[in-house]
Amino acid sequence: MTGPEIEAAAAARGPLTLEAVGLGKDFKLAGGTVLHAVRDVSFGLYRGAVVALVGESGSGKSTVAKLLAGQERRTHGTVTLDGTPVDARAGRAFRRYKSQVQYVFQDPFSSLNPVHTVGYHLTRPVKLHQKEVKDVSQAVTALLEQVRLTPADQFIEKYPHELSGGQRQRVSFARALAARPAVLLADEPVSMLDVSIRLEKLNLLDDLRTRLSLALLYITHDIASARYFADEVLVMYGGQIVERGPAEDVTQRPAHPFTQLLVASAPDPDNLGSSLKSGNVGQNGGGAERVGRVKSSTGGPAEAGCPFSNRCPLADDKCRRETPGLQLLPSNRAAACWRLDVAAPSGTDSAV
Ligand SMILES: Nc1ncnc2c1ncn2[C@@H]1O[C@H](COP(=O)(O)OP(=O)(O)OP(=O)(O)O)[C@@H](O)[C@H]1O
Ligand code: SF4
Ligand SMILES: [Mg+2]
Repeated sequence: MTGPEIEAAAAARGPLTLEAVGLGKDFKLAGGTVLHAVRDVSFGLYRGAVVALVGESGSGKSTVAKLLAGQERRTHGTVTLDGTPVDARAGRAFRRYKSQVQYVFQDPFSSLNPVHTVGYHLTRPVKLHQKEVKDVSQAVTALLEQVRLTPADQFIEKYPHELSGGQRQRVSFARALAARPAVLLADEPVSMLDVSIRLEKLNLLDDLRTRLSLALLYITHDIASARYFADEVLVMYGGQIVERGPAEDVTQRPAHPFTQLLVASAPDPDNLGSSLKSGNVGQNGGGAERVGRVKSSTGGPAEAGCPFSNRCPLADDKCRRETPGLQLLPSNRAAACWRLDVAAPSGTDSAV
């Protein structure tokens, strides 16, 4: 159980692996101001399950991933892996944790070093993480086969510029898998909108999580792909989780006004996900009219009260004064909004 008394949808797949409770990150900015980039974020990642973290640019998604990967130090909260608390000061144990939790930043243009071959990129992590392996080149071949870069010997000597974007991504995944992780944090930047690459990547990730029983965090701007791919969806706004629940429910019957905006902005609000299957993702067609009643400016979260209050058509004085916490809804869902009686009058039946 994570967050409020909610049974995570992803828990149906397998045992809890990574758990974050009350995770927070403050950045000190020039002039002494503090940016609360992540606030009170709690969720679990389960073996063989996909949890999607969805939100606009700057909402804190990558910061959450970096906190989980041990690349940033958390300001608040706890993280446990298989029940063991994670402590950045714990030398060898922390290094072991970092190898178990791999973060793949999916920018095919910058994640690989242009002066090194594919073989070089994979040999190093194999030597580091698979010390018992005698035949390193065989292990490298196995990794390439795992990410379906075959025949492997055709890829080992290639340089990143000789590969397509999708192939470079596969190398990034292979490098992460060299550590034999339990958890994969897959971060998708906004620039990567090519539909064929996206589909290819989702299919590969889906295959890997099943075959290797990975606990997967899939970070995206695209709620349509989250429905297609994830067991559970967490929607972030202004550093907080504002809605969470089973992927199908959250994407088809969004309760929080911000999730409603995200769904309305997706390519086909009545049939999310099919656009992905038909290769239509990222075109954003037709969304603009539908979001008319919500201010679509990206002026950033409100400083006081509900972070969405300066864009929300339902905002009242209380919203601007007090920050709502996650409230339980039927079907193992939760949303952080004072006005769910209006935004989602029958619990989960709000129409966009
Ligand atoms: N090292 C840092 N120092 C100061 N502020 C930071 C730092 N890293 C991130 N931030 C700020 O924290 C907030 C959240 O950033 P983050 O990168 O997590 O967002 P995101 O949801 O991943 O966005 P995108 O979808 O564009 O990748 C942003 O306002 C960002 O400017
Ligand atoms: S708390 Fe108020 S401002 Fe925030 S989403 Fe709900 S109605 Fe809108
Ligand atoms: Mg990011």
